[in-house]
Amino acid sequence: MKIILLGYMTSGKSLIGKKLAQTLDCEFIDLDEWIEKKEKLKISEIFKKRGEIYFRKLEHETLKTLVLDTKRNVISLGGGTPCYSNNLDLLINKSDLKTLYLKVSMTNLVDRLFKEKKNRPLVSHIKTKEELTEFVGKHLFERIPFYTQAEFTIDADRTENEIIESILFKLF
Ligand code: S3P
Repeated sequence: MKIILLGYMTSGKSLIGKKLAQTLDCEFIDLDEWIEKKEKLKISEIFKKRGEIYFRKLEHETLKTLVLDTKRNVISLGGGTPCYSNNLDLLINKSDLKTLYLKVSMTNLVDRLFKEKKNRPLVSHIKTKEELTEFVGKHLFERIPFYTQAEFTIDADRTENEIIESILFKLF
C-alpha cells in the first residue's frame, strides 16, 4: 500500500510524511525532493530557468513513475500536484493508494507561508502579508475541489503527534 499526502503549500506534508513513514517503518518520498535530485536543481531554479510548464511536465512524469510501482511507501506531493486532471487520474480510485488531504486553516497557512515563501516560486514575489492573504484566499478556493477528492481529509491544525494518530486511526 502507498500512502499519498496532499494539501496546500506549508500544510506539513513533508514533515508528517517523514514521521508517518518512520512510524510505519517504510520508505518516505518527497516528490519535490525527488524532482530536485533528478534535475540537480532546486524547484525555484527549475521555475526560473525552465518555467512552470516544464516543471509541471516533470512533476507529472515523476508522479507517474512513483505511483505505478508496487512499493510500500509514503509519498508527499507538491501543493499543486493533485490540481491537474492527469495527475488526479493517477491518484483517485486506486485500490492500492490511500490519499490523505492535510487540511490547514487559511490563517495558519498564510502565517507559515509568509515565513517560508523564499523557496516557493509561486509566492516568493509577494511582499506583504495582506497581498499574500489575498493570493492564498483565491488560490486555495481554486484548489480545494481537487484536495477534497482525497479519500480522507485530516484536520491538520493540530500537533504532529495528533495528526499522525488521526491518520493511523483512519487507515487501520
Ligand atoms: C507548488 C508547491 C510546491 C512546489 C512548487 C509548486 C504549488 O511544493 O511543488 O513550488 O503549486 O503549490 P510544496 O507544497 O511542498 O511547497
